[in-house]
Order: sequence, then structure tokens, then C-alpha cells
Amino acid sequence: MKRPLFFGALLFSALLGTQPTISQTLNMQVDVKKVGSPIQSTMYGIFFEDINYGADGGLYAEMIKNRSFEFPQSLLGWTSFGKVEVRDDKPAFTNNPHFVRLHEAGHSDKQTGLDNEGFFGVAVKQNATYRFSVWARLPEAGAGSIRVELIDGASNVLVKENLTFDSKEWKKYQVILKAPKTEAKARLRIFLTSKAAVDLDHVSLFPVDTWKGRENGLRKDLAQALYDLHPGVFRFPGGCIVEGTDLETRYQWKNTVGQVENRKLNENRWQYTFTHRFFPDYFQTYGMGFFELFQLSEDIGAEPLPVLSCGLACQFQNKDEKAHASVKELDPYIQDALDLIEFANGDVTTKWGKLRADMGHPAPFNLKVMAVGNEQWGTLYPERLEPFIKAIRAKYPTFKIIGSAGPSPDGKDFEFGWKEMKRLKTDLVDEHYYKDPKWFLTNATRYDAYDRKGPKVFAGEYACHVQSVKNNFESALCEAAFMTGFERNADLVQMCTYAPLFAHVDGYQWRPDLIWFDNLRSVRSVNYYVQQLYGMNKGTNVLPLTINNQPVTGKDGLYATAAWDKTAKAYIIKVANTSDKEQSVSITLAGLKKGVAFAKSTCTKLHSPDLDMENTLDNPYAVVPVETPVTLEGNVLNVKLESKTFAVYRLQN
Ligand code: AHR
Repeated sequence: MKRPLFFGALLFSALLGTQPTISQTLNMQVDVKKVGSPIQSTMYGIFFEDINYGADGGLYAEMIKNRSFEFPQSLLGWTSFGKVEVRDDKPAFTNNPHFVRLHEAGHSDKQTGLDNEGFFGVAVKQNATYRFSVWARLPEAGAGSIRVELIDGASNVLVKENLTFDSKEWKKYQVILKAPKTEAKARLRIFLTSKAAVDLDHVSLFPVDTWKGRENGLRKDLAQALYDLHPGVFRFPGGCIVEGTDLETRYQWKNTVGQVENRKLNENRWQYTFTHRFFPDYFQTYGMGFFELFQLSEDIGAEPLPVLSCGLACQFQNKDEKAHASVKELDPYIQDALDLIEFANGDVTTKWGKLRADMGHPAPFNLKVMAVGNEQWGTLYPERLEPFIKAIRAKYPTFKIIGSAGPSPDGKDFEFGWKEMKRLKTDLVDEHYYKDPKWFLTNATRYDAYDRKGPKVFAGEYACHVQSVKNNFESALCEAAFMTGFERNADLVQMCTYAPLFAHVDGYQWRPDLIWFDNLRSVRSVNYYVQQLYGMNKGTNVLPLTINNQPVTGKDGLYATAAWDKTAKAYIIKVANTSDKEQSVSITLAGLKKGVAFAKSTCTKLHSPDLDMENTLDNPYAVVPVETPVTLEGNVLNVKLESKTFAVYRLQN
């Protein structure tokens, strides 16, 4: 039947003098009998670093900037009026000693107080409630009081509440403010309303409705976006931020745990890394520290993967060896690593396990793996990593250690790094690549011929950078195509995490990024949906997938991989069509037993005719996955794959 029709079409077009579009069907075979390598539960994950206001001003829901008056300019973020003094005598918190003293203005018509600009504004939503809290003390006789207000951009009062203080000792007070309307650029204002002076510290404002309702909580929409990725692993807290511009400002996890108010402020290297995107008010308060990050890992069902300093300050910024800790000076760094394992997993009777329990989590966090060093290279790195490995393995023999292959995915330093990681027998090697679309497509075969005898691969940071550095569909499609190579090589590649994760539209230093937000809204980039499709359709084992007995790695612009999910009893086929033409593909589940039904089978597609299309705050759903049911004929699925499409077929009953 088919032949005469096709012939008829040829004849018709010959008569018209036109060429028919001949779409040759490609026969894709998935060998369901050859259940291959396991795909690790950690395979697709996320990487959090405090860049682009990802923590303070981002995921961490605190709305007050410089709440403890510890920024080098003590009142940065604040506007004071009347008689306000910054002091540090008999402080409430020894690690953050500064506080403000508010004195009566000296005339009944004059006012003393201060207001806070928040992070690019204090954004409130209509009818939502906000918890204002403050540590206060009465430095002199008499009752003390303040009025707390939320004011809009034109200084109109949105809501106000009074607070009275009754103690000469530092004490925490709080009051709930309900916003009568939505305002993106509100401010918090405090008036002294008593004759007596008051001391104030750690002035804080949180939405009551945080992720899981926690008081020192996370922004709900952003945490939800992480949860919805179904991540298997959660790498934190960096990135370059781990290393520090100098050792003094490196990330030290011990400074980020314990009482929130007493966590010592640190600078944030992303304040000044790019002078064309300079943010003098960017610091790390560590309100969201290691405890909160472990807790978040648990909440989103991902294995925690902390990264610790190896004693090298950022190597890009420090060419002089003296900037780094010498091998002889590494003991405190190694102790930090050992103590972190105790903090995460130790019994509540141990020093650090007890701190975890005191912070509200007596059960262990089940930490199994850590990275020592971020983007390190040269001989300086292995000579420092080696003593870490010895000490960690001596105390925790099964604990996994990840080493770095440096900042580039190839070249002399990369080769040397890998050689050294093999010698040191790290469990995994962390590779990073921020590259263009061509690189991503060509490198879909990157791992096919990798040495299987050495460490496994962790693709710890990657993102496709198109010239415009946008999160556009082209970058997402190239990532989807490239990631088929992760999955096909799941015996080797055991984790991957896109980077960076978050970006505030008013405060980014780096792009592209997975999730963008302002103070009221957030948007999931097209790249996010690629990660989500992989995360939700991981499977448990690789299945061989071929066209003409060859893996599908770019011929005809197609990239594909297949997996079996033994728990869901599903066959999962991922195909990226990067070509300019629609492709007819016939997918055969070769070796399938007769009579297997596939009643719940679906195809989820990410497609845009416009490669430059992106999801934005104002147009958040420009490119989103669309799911439709599909029907097999026996063991064959016939599909038409539009040009520039990523499709996930999930065949199950
Ligand atoms: O993801 C942004 C930065 O890129 C990371 O901090 C660093 O590891 C890499 O250079």
C-alpha cells in the first residue's frame, strides 16, 4: 500500500517540478535484554554557591541587609536619622560585636531611627505576614520602645507595629507585620518612640511562610524549584568561594554553624571579582550555613556533597606560593574535614555531633562523600590533597573523596591533574566546562573512550555558553544532547551538576544560570527543564541504543540514550534532534517479551522554533516541557521529532 502512494507523490511532484521532502525513517534499536551499568542515584544533581546573590538576598529568606551592623561600613544598607551611634561595648554577640544605640532626638518634633533598603528593596506580598525580630537592651533607666514600619517607595506607611523593651540585658523581641498590598521596593523603618535610649542588634525580617515554615528559613519558591528538580546530589558551598581570594576569607564551615546571630560575617569574593558587575554590599552572613545546607539536601532528597578548602587560596588570584598554606601548615584544614564528617554523621555524644543535635538534627545527615579543593591545578594541589586523603581514609575508610582536574576540560593542567588523581586514587575527579554549543555537541562522545580503571567522573560545573550568554533554548538543547553522553557512560560518570544555580536579576555577576529571580518572582530557565527532565527520568540502568549498530552521538544531528528503570518498570529514551529537519524515528525495543503492555507511555518534549528563546520573569513559560501520551505498535514506537527538540519517551504500564 505504501509504495504506490509514495510513488504517486514522486510523480505528482515531478509533474509540478518540485522536490518532495523525503523523510527517511531512522531505525533506532534499544536492546532491552542487555541491561547495562547502574545509573547512580546521585547522577543528576545541583550545585549551590553564593554567587549572583544566591544566598543572602536569594535562597536565604532574610530581607534585611547588614542586619548585624558588621559590614565594614557599619551602616551600609541603612539610612539613619536623629541620634544613632554604632557601638561595640558589651555586645550581644562576640563574633558580631557591633550594634546601634538610638538616643532621643532632643526635640519633641525630631525623630531618631533608621531604615533598611533590603536586598534591592524589601519586597512584600499582599496579605502575607512577616516576622520582625530584634535583639534589644535598655542601656539606661526607663522604658524603651520602637515603632516598626514597612514603607513603600514613596515613603507611605504600609503597616506599623510597636515593640516595648523591658530588659537591661540583651533579649530577643519580635512582632508580626501583615502587608496590606504588594510592594517590590518597600523599606523597613524603625523609629525610637521612648525617651530612654535603646540598643538594637541583629535586626531581622523574614516572611512567615518560608520553605517548611522554618524561622531561619529559605525562600519558598526557590527551595521548591530545587525540590522539583529531583536532584540526586547537592554540591555546596562552591566554587571559588570555598578557596577565598586569600586564605583568610576562604569558606570555613565552622564559622557557619551554631547560633545564627553569632556566625561571623565574611566577605564575598563575587562582590569584586568582576568590576563591571561590582556590588559593594555583597557579603556572606552565613545565616544559611552548613547546617541549613545539610538540612536542605535532606529536604530535597539529595546526597550532600560539601567542598572544602585544600589550603590553596584561589589560584587564579594568587600566583605567589606564599599566599597558600604550606603542606606543613595543613593540620587545621585537615582537622576541619575530619570534624565535618563528625558534624554530619557523628554520634550526639561527640563534640560536633552534639552541635548538630543541639541545632535540631540529632539524626545523622549520612554524609558519604566530600570534595577537597575546587578548581586546583599544578603540583601544589596533589601535594596538599595527599595528606587529606591519608587522614580521612585512616579514620573513615569507606568515605569517598573527590579531587579536582582544574578549571579546564582539557590541556596540560587537566592531563596532569587526572594523572595525579589516579596516582592518589581519589574516588572521583571533578571536571568543569563552560563552553560553546559546538564544544558541547562534539563532546557528547567525550566519555566513550575514557579509561575505566581510574577514578569515576563528577561533572561538577558545566553550562553551555552561547555568545550572548543567555539561558536560551540553544544552550539548553546542546546541554541535553551532551548529557546523553553522561548517561551512556554511567559506569564512569556518576554525578553531574549544572552551574551556577541562582541569579538575582538585579545582582548577578555571572550568567547563564539555572534559576533567575527578583524579590517577588522566580523563573525556571529552559536549561532548568533539561536538568529536570534528566532528574525525573534517570532510570536505574543503561540500555544499549543504536542506529545501524552505532551509538547515536551526532549523526544527522541526533543524540540519544536509553535507560531501564527497574523500580518503575519503565523504558526511558532521551533523544535530542539538533538538526534543521524533522526526523522520523522508529524506536524498537528489541528483545522485548511478547504481550508487554505500555498503557502509561508518554513523550515529554522541550521544543522551540526559535533557538534564542528564553524564559524570563515576564514570560516564564516561553519554553516548557509538554507531555503527550504515545502508543506503541507491539514493541515499536514511531515518532516524528521536530527540528530542534529534546524528547523523553517514557514507556511503561
Ligand atoms: O560557577 C561559577 C564559578 O566558576 C565557580 O565558582 C568556579 O568553580 C568556576 O570557575
